[in-house]
Amino acid sequence: MDLQGRNRGRAGIVPSIFCYCACVAVVAAGAGGDEYAKHKDPKQPLNTRIDDLLRRMTLAEKIGQMSQIERVNATAEVMRKYSIGSVLSGGGSVPSPNAAAPEWVKMVNEIQRGAMSSRLGIPMLYGIDAVHGHNNVYKATIFPHNVGLGCTR
Ligand SMILES: *[C@@H]1O[C@H](CO)[C@@H](O)[C@H](O)[C@H]1NC(C)=O
Repeated sequence: MDLQGRNRGRAGIVPSIFCYCACVAVVAAGAGGDEYAKHKDPKQPLNTRIDDLLRRMTLAEKIGQMSQIERVNATAEVMRKYSIGSVLSGGGSVPSPNAAAPEWVKMVNEIQRGAMSSRLGIPMLYGIDAVHGHNNVYKATIFPHNVGLGCTR
């Protein structure tokens, strides 16, 4: 209370302006890259991390993050260049006929590698249009969905 009272008036404005300039300088340095990034610090509160990341994103990166593209179009280069947020295997869209789990893992890891090499390194989400477990993976366990439906009615 005492300090606030004494600093009112012109003398109080100068430190405020100085503080504002110092803050702008810190933000400008942060956009450069290698320095501390709040959004990558798991000790920061979630909303602080989200605000920090959004502040760093360009409009093109935000559009890319809101986009989900089909697997056939998702090369590592496309993921990196357009900062794509999500990839989908539409019904029956598989890496190759009779692709087993290791082939799926290899494909998804390659797409993820591209996403992680984008300017902000945001991982992508992978969506799969499949039923009964993941019925597009060759030799995967298929859950007896119809037996379950039969049991309930
Ligand atoms: C996505 O892949 C499909 C099938 O290969 C192709 O016809 C289409 O042109 C591709 N789209 C883009 C934007 O590359």
